[in-house]
Amino acid sequence: MTGDASALFRSRVLFVTGKGGVGKTTTAAAVGRVAAATGRRTLVMEVDNQHPSLPAIFGKPAAHQPVEVEPNLWIANTEWQPALEDWVESIVSMRRLVRLIMKNRVVSLFLQVTPGARDLVMLWRVSELAKSFDLVVVDMPASGNAVAMLSVPLTAERLFPSGPIRACAEALLAMVARPDTALVLVALPEEMVVNETLETLERLQAGMPTLRVPIILLNRASMPTLSERERSLLRALEREFTEGVAVEVLEAGAWEEGLEAATGEALARLQEAKRPVIALPSLPRNDGARRVAAQMASALARGAGLRVLLRGGA
Ligand SMILES: Nc1ncnc2c1ncn2[C@@H]1O[C@H](COP(=O)(O)OP(=O)(O)O)[C@@H](O)[C@H]1O
Ligand SMILES: [Mg+2]
Repeated sequence: MTGDASALFRSRVLFVTGKGGVGKTTTAAAVGRVAAATGRRTLVMEVDNQHPSLPAIFGKPAAHQPVEVEPNLWIANTEWQPALEDWVESIVSMRRLVRLIMKNRVVSLFLQVTPGARDLVMLWRVSELAKSFDLVVVDMPASGNAVAMLSVPLTAERLFPSGPIRACAEALLAMVARPDTALVLVALPEEMVVNETLETLERLQAGMPTLRVPIILLNRASMPTLSERERSLLRALEREFTEGVAVEVLEAGAWEEGLEAATGEALARLQEAKRPVIALPSLPRNDGARRVAAQMASALARGAGLRVLLRGGA
């Protein structure tokens, strides 16, 4: 840990994004678990995911409606169609009329093909859920799509001078700008991922300057374990042994050194982001999603200086 993770736990709405496969869902689940352990009613939600990953972590299916998985902790996979119906209902506030409107092919076609309508409704659903939870952690799509989704309210505000879409866009812009709304970027110690992280941050700052991005998480980090003495010993031994079992041991040492170097480089480059970077450990590959998320939760809690009793994962 090279930074303070507590900023994560001060938010009410927390968007989590990053390049595909960096550990967004794992991180979102871990943040949720720690927040719940501190006594906050917490929801971790995926956004209309065709292959939701939260069920494997919590051992319960995720549905559109939040499902309680642990004390204070719920999961959901927000679906577009029911979210749209709820949104229309929030405007016309009569179930019968909603059904009529939704049956109207022109209206539903308009909503389904209008670029951004889907994203707008999904964000609206987040803002609604935030009314009944202390914290909503949104496991967002990969960075490009997440930025597009978050910029929809601004576009909608420009396009619609009045009416319900305008009102919705304004409410969402207010939500994004709240001091307790934040976005966290998850990165890996790999050059391409670090580049994409810095680019995403730049796009967010240019397009949505009101959205707070307080910290960056560097997942799968290998913190230095070798001392200087061990390193020079490694160098010397590499010259001595060129065959046999010793070579394998030396290769393992070199591999470890390579991972540490990659983490060091990523940490150095991420300085450009001018915000604290929190390193999360690389965990054993075959531990399974559930245990990985549980260990990540412990690491986050330690990094935030929170003494909580965490459940599950063992
Ligand atoms: N720090 C880590 N150490 C080991 N495995 C990890 C770590 N973080 C994530 N994983 C594993 O990597 C895979 C991808 O993580 P996931 O959170 O699903 O990524 P994303 O949501 O960004 O696609 C999962 O199998 C997860 O258990
Ligand atoms: Mg995921």
